[in-house]
Amino acid sequence: MTGSTETEIIVVDTPQALAQDAARHISRLALTCIESTGRFTIALSGGSTPKALYELLASQPFQQEMPWEDIFFFFGDERCVAHDSSESNYRMASEAMLSKASIPPENVFPTELQDSAPEESAIQYEKKLKEFFSLKEGEFPVFDLILLGLGDDGHTASLFPESKALGESERLCVANYVEKFKASRITLTLPVLNNAAQVVFLVTGSGKAAIINDILTGKKERAYPAMLVSPHNGTLRWYLDKAAASELDAALCCP
Ligand code: 6PG
Repeated sequence: MTGSTETEIIVVDTPQALAQDAARHISRLALTCIESTGRFTIALSGGSTPKALYELLASQPFQQEMPWEDIFFFFGDERCVAHDSSESNYRMASEAMLSKASIPPENVFPTELQDSAPEESAIQYEKKLKEFFSLKEGEFPVFDLILLGLGDDGHTASLFPESKALGESERLCVANYVEKFKASRITLTLPVLNNAAQVVFLVTGSGKAAIINDILTGKKERAYPAMLVSPHNGTLRWYLDKAAASELDAALCCP
């Protein structure tokens, strides 16, 4: 593992148990943040893993517990497709949670123009972030929580191995061309991820077991993008189901 961030690894039996544990954690974290600052800012991850978590948060008891009017939703990354596309992270999150819970529309910040003008979309999204977080030049936002997934190639958000965005040190958000998709994706950059108060990875399935072991043991000299996530003033938490942790050194996860 890189960085000296306080890292916690939580292994649960099933994807359903992982969604439960993560939902309880997020609900508690949201209430604590809102008590101290009056708001909770979260960047949602895409892909398929978080869907069960989002559905849970939008159902009882979380639907009732969460002070939705004080929670503000951003996206860690977005595919360059229309919001009604089956590929859209915004559509997945909306169908699973954002349209189901009583969330004021003005509390949700999707990307715009991502399907027609990726570069402009990233510039617009960066402007939204700077405005919302009242950032001065050179400042990065401090998200209360950034949710991330993990690809079996070690990518996270849309920071793919050998992609240009990995080297971005100034911008908050970029359009990142991904060779294997022959397409760009909008993604928050590492400085934003590493400025969060807390980052939570949600990883399930045996398909991720090998990469999880490589990343969490740091045995591979190759720095996968996910290994570069190490919040310098925050905490890092990995939620794994048993299948994703099945190749993980026992010393790392099972006290
Ligand atoms: C995306 C995600 C991406 C995802 C991983 C894991 O837009 O796809 O943000 O980083 O988290 O690819 O995806 P799964 O959860 O579908 O395995």
